[in-house]
Amino acid sequence: KKVVLAYSGGVDTSVCIPYLKQEWGVEEVITLAADLGQGDELEPIKEKALKSGASESLVADVKDSFVKDYAFSAIQANALYENRYPLGTALARPLIAKILVETAEKYGADAIAHGCTGKGNDQVRFDVSCAALNPNLKILAPAREWGMSREETIAYGEKFGIPAPVKKSSPYSIDKNLLGRSIEAGVLEDPAAEPPEEIYQMTKAIADTPNEPEYIEIGFNRGIPTDLNGKSTNAVELIQQLNQLAGDRGIGRIDMIENRLVGIKSREIYESPAMLVLIQAHRDLESLTLTADVSHYKRGIEETYTQLVYNGLWYSPLKSALDAFIQQTQERVSGTVRVKLFKGNASIVGRWSDNSLYSPDLATYGSEDQFDHKAAEGFIYVWGLPTRIWAQQAR
Ligand code: ARG
Ligand code: SIN
Repeated sequence: KKVVLAYSGGVDTSVCIPYLKQEWGVEEVITLAADLGQGDELEPIKEKALKSGASESLVADVKDSFVKDYAFSAIQANALYENRYPLGTALARPLIAKILVETAEKYGADAIAHGCTGKGNDQVRFDVSCAALNPNLKILAPAREWGMSREETIAYGEKFGIPAPVKKSSPYSIDKNLLGRSIEAGVLEDPAAEPPEEIYQMTKAIADTPNEPEYIEIGFNRGIPTDLNGKSTNAVELIQQLNQLAGDRGIGRIDMIENRLVGIKSREIYESPAMLVLIQAHRDLESLTLTADVSHYKRGIEETYTQLVYNGLWYSPLKSALDAFIQQTQERVSGTVRVKLFKGNASIVGRWSDNSLYSPDLATYGSEDQFDHKAAEGFIYVWGLPTRIWAQQAR
């Protein structure tokens, strides 16, 4: 009877409003738009929902939580799906699900609705996250069932006073937020075709980037980025500033063929300048401050963590257990990383920390060398013993 709908202002989510009411007999649709720093005008979106038949239209500014509770955890986990995608879209979904559930509970709604299609990852993330947070709420996904083409969807909307997109609508499907843009469809569906320059907004083409490198210093405290160029910087601003600095230097583009949870491969283009730089810098600081065994073991945890997040299991017991492990490892990951931004590359050119495990006396090839070379002989004898015995036996 009463439904809270995840709302973006786009055609699909707008059409969901009359569709839920006309076809599925929902009496009241409350829309909820999340401000994740996507840069859309939220006032017009609010208006549009009401015009499309919503009884109430809510906007929640969750940028701060998005960065602190979601993006920063992913940075601590060095989370790159299939080694490349920093999960900009995937991280937003559990947060949107959380505010949907909170709103549904506050307004006494019976169900939650979203406009995701039936072949993507996003539907899985919404459905599973909502179920984890309140298994008693029903989940409605009209776009998974209505079987309308884009033209039919627009025509259906027009019947109920939802204007067709003003501009000739973009052939691309774009999801964007503070962490980046995810772009699909149109000519990108041909994996052999180079993406046209027009799809990019956060990153410059290399040809248009400055000819001088930009050096920046990122300060971390327990694995969390807190300072930019020596200045303590608020979480959201740090991401925004890094997006600008790195994007202007052509850093952050990813073109990949990706395996979706639902079994299909899709061609995805991402722009995610800040996240890519931060993960690279964080990983580098870990190499200075973690012991070899923790560092190596963490790689496996990171891989599992990344798959869980991609696959919609943000709120799950395994994810919580991995979080505990990762938090423990971050205790001494504090320090500063110096990064050179130039022509599409972010290169780490320096790092230092009060917790550094790097010992110049042990590492040097100079005369100050403290390493006991003699001790190596006995070590190698014992280390190589199984191999020696095995080789001996084979003769
Ligand atoms: N494939 C990416 C992911 O699963 C991006 C999805 C983009 N979503 C969208 N509605 N365009 O995280
Ligand atoms: C969607 O179907 O909503 C977009 C693609 C995806 O979720 O992976």
